[in-house]
Amino acid sequence: MKDKLEALLDQALSELAQASTEEGVQELRVKYLGKKGELTSVMKGLGAFTPEERPVIGQVVNTVKGKLEEAFEVRGGEIREVVKSARLSAERIDVTLPGRRRSLGSKHPITLVTEEITSIFGALGFAVAEGPEIELDFYNFEALNLPKDHPARDMQDTFYFGESVLLRTHTSPVQIRTMLKQPPPVRIIAPGTVYRCDSDATHSPMFHQVEGLMVDKGITFGDLKGILTLFISQLFGSDIGVRLRPSFFPFTEPSAEVDIACVICRGKGCRVCKETGWLEILGAGMVDPEVYRHVGYDSELYTGFAFGMGIERIAMLKYGIADMRLLFENDLRFLKQF
Ligand code: PHE
Repeated sequence: MKDKLEALLDQALSELAQASTEEGVQELRVKYLGKKGELTSVMKGLGAFTPEERPVIGQVVNTVKGKLEEAFEVRGGEIREVVKSARLSAERIDVTLPGRRRSLGSKHPITLVTEEITSIFGALGFAVAEGPEIELDFYNFEALNLPKDHPARDMQDTFYFGESVLLRTHTSPVQIRTMLKQPPPVRIIAPGTVYRCDSDATHSPMFHQVEGLMVDKGITFGDLKGILTLFISQLFGSDIGVRLRPSFFPFTEPSAEVDIACVICRGKGCRVCKETGWLEILGAGMVDPEVYRHVGYDSELYTGFAFGMGIERIAMLKYGIADMRLLFENDLRFLKQF
């Protein structure tokens, strides 16, 4: 029996030495150590021996089994090494191949225009102020001299949450919040999102404004005109025509609307300017004393001006965008151009 086992071991080892693939090793493992393998069938024959013989033979079987298992392990490892080094010398990594590029996003035109406006006014000493988009009637209307039932409230189709809570219809409430927080002098601009119930090619229910407010002793309409003219020449070029037209806002007196010469036809008259040669871009005026009363400023001591402009409109004029909705569709083919 012992001889038979040793012969089996020799045979297995020599077959194993011939094996050259992992599959080959696996087949031999099944052949000798598997459930129906040769060693297993020898072990099944153990019952034929006497109880005295069995432990002796059992020990030999175990030794042979241990040797075989180790031999399979070693040969398998050798073959894996050979396969690996063959693969390593066959494969090539081209380290000069360029990597995958990440495409970089760009700023939205509304952001670009807002930043440009903010930086022009920043250079003139205007700080940035902010306020909430969900606003109280008091800040959005009441303190701006638009009492309940005032007809001018109809100029701004308002989204209401209830009696006195609403989506701000303009950035002017930031004027009130700023003046309630600090005494004069004030020199701020307030960029932000505003909402009106209105939607077509030139109106969006959500849009953006920049508000401006300057209050101090001795501020005149001349300061308003000077600063806005300077601002427009920096934004649209120094050769652009500017004019002020009398207008009305409940929170400014006197009030004006500011036009620039049409950027398309340069004043000759075209479809964009409706043949007038002019484009309105701003509302402005001297702060009404009634507004100062609401914030506790002394209107005998202080004067000032305020202005407000729509950023979408300025972006459309600056970049020649015909339909406002393009600004909010987030089509990459459009956005990539800026
Ligand atoms: N708030 C006004 C609007 O939305 C613009 C404006 C601001 C006018 C400040 C005058 C002074 O139409």
